[in-house]
Amino acid sequence: MTVYLVGAGPGDPDLLTVRAVRLLQRADVVVHDRLVAPGVVALAPREARRVDAGKAAGRAVLSQEQINELLVELGGSGALVVRLKGGDPYVFGRGGEEAAALLEAGVPFEVVPGISSALAAPMAAGVPLTMRSRASSFTVLTGHDDPENPQGVDWEAHARTGATLVVLMGAGRIGAIAKRLLVGGLDADTPVVAVHWACTERQQVLRTTLSEVGHAEVAAPCTFVIGDVAGLDLRSLPLPTPWAVPRAPKP
Ligand SMILES: C[S@@+](CC[C@H](N)C(=O)[O-])C[C@H]1O[C@@H](n2cnc3c(N)ncnc32)[C@H](O)[C@@H]1O
Repeated sequence: MTVYLVGAGPGDPDLLTVRAVRLLQRADVVVHDRLVAPGVVALAPREARRVDAGKAAGRAVLSQEQINELLVELGGSGALVVRLKGGDPYVFGRGGEEAAALLEAGVPFEVVPGISSALAAPMAAGVPLTMRSRASSFTVLTGHDDPENPQGVDWEAHARTGATLVVLMGAGRIGAIAKRLLVGGLDADTPVVAVHWACTERQQVLRTTLSEVGHAEVAAPCTFVIGDVAGLDLRSLPLPTPWAVPRAPKP
């Protein structure tokens, strides 16, 4: 039977896709990650089997290999299997590895996209990732790699693109990341927004700057938005200056 790799969105069950809800309501087995909100898992029938594959940082309940094996095994069982992954399965979710394992084993699967925290967390803080004349692109980056590792993300290069930078999994390394972005040429007062537990009852938003963010206390899960647009908060008026005053068009 088909295994469904389903994006659970950032937390609020109202942000699930219709397809995700329909599949959950028919599920025989739900295999979910740690960051998937209980309210989402609760949409499965009461009698459905629930497997918590929850991977807390540094202490895996099930290894990725074990999860892959479990999905292959369940896929051969005839049960309707929903593999629930926080946000979108293919954005830093290791959904690609799970899909590859199912493909290799000949188990039919389908991927159902979800709203990634990379999109939802900025929105929840009132930050548009792109805005005419402010930012014409955005880049989603992992903060998980050691910034000292020369093979890792080239932060200095990203500092020069002018794109809004969205950093996932960066809570433990944001100070080191900020240093490299400063070396790359971003201004010390570049706005930074940190959104902790976006779209849940535990949501907290911190507004700071690139030179200060390393001193801030930020815990995972947290999404950082770095760039001019992070100085906006479109949830409330008045807008901070200079955002309140439309810029003069370029000659
Ligand atoms: C392993 S990645 C998974 C990302 C996920 N696939 C997605 O598309 O959102 C986990 C990271 O996503 C971010 N994240 C997930 N849920 C979040 C939330 N509710 N609020 C803020 N950031 C979140 C954090 O940066 C966290 O460390």
